[in-house]
Amino acid sequence: MSKLEELRKKIDHYDRQLAAVLEKRLEIILEIMAEKKEKRMPIFSKEREEQVVKQIGHYVTNPDLKEEVRYIQRHVLESCRRIQSKRLFPYHITLVGFMGSGKTTVGIELSKMLAMEQMDVDRVIEEKMKMKVSEIFQLYGEQVFRQLESSVVEELANQENVIIFCSGGGVVLNEQNVKNLKRTGVVVWLKATPEEIFSRISEDNTRPLLKDNMSVANIESMLEGRLHLYEKAADVVIETDGKTVEQVSFEIVDQLMRCDLDGRTGINQVDRRASNL
Ligand code: S3P
Repeated sequence: MSKLEELRKKIDHYDRQLAAVLEKRLEIILEIMAEKKEKRMPIFSKEREEQVVKQIGHYVTNPDLKEEVRYIQRHVLESCRRIQSKRLFPYHITLVGFMGSGKTTVGIELSKMLAMEQMDVDRVIEEKMKMKVSEIFQLYGEQVFRQLESSVVEELANQENVIIFCSGGGVVLNEQNVKNLKRTGVVVWLKATPEEIFSRISEDNTRPLLKDNMSVANIESMLEGRLHLYEKAADVVIETDGKTVEQVSFEIVDQLMRCDLDGRTGINQVDRRASNL
């Protein structure tokens, strides 16, 4: 046997051990998840993960390899988050809310927390059209934008992979959009007061519907016309004023776990797909 063959044999031996250990770890994670769910405890904890990553470094004897093992452990933990969120939330999670309600930032945080892919309706439109949303409004007007928005919402809602998707603030204006969103997913409304929205986006001039009239009063009157639509669409409502992105994300996870979604046919279909993963 050549030296290389010998070394590969050794590697195979350790990979086999690694596979068995990882399999056990994932199984225990699911047991922990069930336990936490029953006790209504928060499922994900950043502090605990940091502790686990730090701790594994202490078990490594070769100082040159400590960081590498910690790096691998971070990936193991990501995979553990994914396996849990697939079981807990086998449906799309859609974030809706007015401009500046935090859909995009919360979507990014939530996608890290749940190790789920995140897609932004406005970004998908921009990629398809190869121009910014503000340019689409300027060149073609709001109606064309709304048509593009509806077709992207439908496309994403039908996607097999479970995703977190963030829709533009006006997505709820169209009843068909809401139907599509609710067919295979849960709608989370990120609620914010006009004052809070203003403080978040007053410096931002990329919002075509507000850029020429950025004021609390204008936000208030636009919001007024949409409130009942967000209310009607939402399965879960989160008050975001004064909260950090992380706090809002934790609250979403917590509320989704309490959410009773029985009888939602589309969700059950996604459910079946997810349970085969
Ligand atoms: C819109 C909100 C924007 C964008 C477009 C229309 C709206 O998304 O889709 O400017 O009608 O509220 P954000 O809410 O992400 O800014």
